[in-house]
Amino acid sequence: MIYLDNAATTLRKPPQVARAMLEAMQSCANPGRGGHQAAARAAETVYRTRALAAAYFGLEPEQVCFTANATEGLNIALRSLIRPGDRVVISGLEHNAVTRTLSALGAKTVPVRAPLFDSEAWTAAFQQALDPETKAVVCLHISNVFGAVLPVERIGGLCAARGIPFVVDASQSAGILPLRPTDWNAAFTAMPGHKGLLGPQGTGLLLCRGLPEPLRFGGTGSSSRDQSMPRELPDRVEAGTLNVPGIAGLGAGLRWLAERDPKALLAREQGLLKLAAQGLNRLGAETWTGKNQTGVLSFRLPGWDCEEAAARFAEQGIALRAGLHCAPLAHQSAGTLPEGTVRLSLSPFTSPREIEAFLTAAKRLHIRTSRSQHQSGRLNRPVFP
Ligand code: ALA
Repeated sequence: MIYLDNAATTLRKPPQVARAMLEAMQSCANPGRGGHQAAARAAETVYRTRALAAAYFGLEPEQVCFTANATEGLNIALRSLIRPGDRVVISGLEHNAVTRTLSALGAKTVPVRAPLFDSEAWTAAFQQALDPETKAVVCLHISNVFGAVLPVERIGGLCAARGIPFVVDASQSAGILPLRPTDWNAAFTAMPGHKGLLGPQGTGLLLCRGLPEPLRFGGTGSSSRDQSMPRELPDRVEAGTLNVPGIAGLGAGLRWLAERDPKALLAREQGLLKLAAQGLNRLGAETWTGKNQTGVLSFRLPGWDCEEAAARFAEQGIALRAGLHCAPLAHQSAGTLPEGTVRLSLSPFTSPREIEAFLTAAKRLHIRTSRSQHQSGRLNRPVFP
């Protein structure tokens, strides 16, 4: 299989990730829940990953909280800041992890829209949307649908000048772009461990520069007699037994990244994306590309329904994701409702040969459409053999 669905999860991981997980499963007990050697080893494993993440993101270890995924981190952040009826300004590209949570909280959500790849326009649009009633701003760093990079540092500056808490969804940027929550004035930055950070599923990080409210209540291995959750981070939001094998794997993913030049990894992905986009454009496909873009590309092949096209790619061994990508707001903003787009997304392990194979498959689909158009004399949905 040629796996080009890395925005959903990275499938190929450095081999160290699985090794670290297995080792943790075989040697780690419950961290902070016993004075014996196996509990101490678990605590050490967890702390090593925490410290590594802290160094990677320019924070202190206690500001790094482990979550099950980015969604859990966003739930903690948003539930800490927002009350029913609060005015919350968000980018018009947000994922359901943000929009459904805000809806459940009864927030008055104000989506900001601007041309996808135009940083100046995004900054100006956010500036215009902020008013004294705004209780929080939520913005993703990279769109999971279009790969567009949003100017979070500048948006964070606008929030800081007005004393508005800022939350960043770094689901598609962690491990891809430098993440500096301090430079962004971000109160909270949420991310999964299983995408660009190359860790396993079931892991995520919430980087806290503010004090969050717990989402879960329970044992932390600390202040056990006290019936309220500890005020101290990370214990405040880490009730219950941690995913130690997952955290060990995430640590291995972070180490792999820390040993490489992030600029070179990004440039490589951008080069491959350009190759894919150029090939698709030659076939007359509609593509969404721009200057501030990482390794995520949305496209549509003329004459093909997006879901059907992805299914035919899958038959040829090419893994893509089509439809709305859990981000209907992004598709609404881009004018790609109701069917959405087909999305290709890259990783450090994607090769130029895989992009060539993808383009060969795209050409086969294109030829089938051209034939069916020729036969019927109009652009219609293809007839499958
Ligand atoms: N949010 C993930 C995606 O974009 C799952 O596919």
